[in-house]
Amino acid sequence: MSDDFYNRIGGEKFFSQLVEDFYVGVATDPILRPMYPEEDLAPAIRRLTLFLMQYWGGPSTYSEERGHPRLRMRHADFKIDAEARDAWLKHMMSAVEKLEMDEELREELVTYLVQVAHFLMNETPKEVNELSRDRKLN
Ligand code: HEM
Repeated sequence: MSDDFYNRIGGEKFFSQLVEDFYVGVATDPILRPMYPEEDLAPAIRRLTLFLMQYWGGPSTYSEERGHPRLRMRHADFKIDAEARDAWLKHMMSAVEKLEMDEELREELVTYLVQVAHFLMNETPKEVNELSRDRKLN
């Protein structure tokens, strides 16, 4: 991560705005909305905001409140296939596009978000399941 990314991109104000915009999309998304256990999305908004602030070099409030992020473990209960990943990224990218930032910072942020979204997938794609069934691999 580049030096002082957190302050250069706009600190807490930037991340709060980003996650708020993102959740406007999540709130009406047919794939994502049912995954969120709480009626009120405010606590989820707060967790993602604090996590991103901490990751990019801001205050470590996320870990003080939630402990180690363990993102894969915390996502294990949700079925994250390519469709869910793409829905998540679609809303996140539209939130990123709405905000002003240096192109260099935007690229770094987008690369990170895309990588983590891939890494959090936990569902074997249908084609792979079909392939392994057809070839009796399991
Ligand atoms: C790939 C698609 C993704 C889906 C479908 C997804 C879905 C969810 C859901 C349903 C929750 C529970 C809401 C809550 O209680 O906070 C959650 C929490 C969270 N997600 Fe994701 N997520 C995805 C990708 C990501 C990515 C890319 C990141 C980070 C860059 C991320 C970071 C987090 C964090 C920090 C939490 C709160 C963890 C906690 O402290 O409990 N998620 N996610």
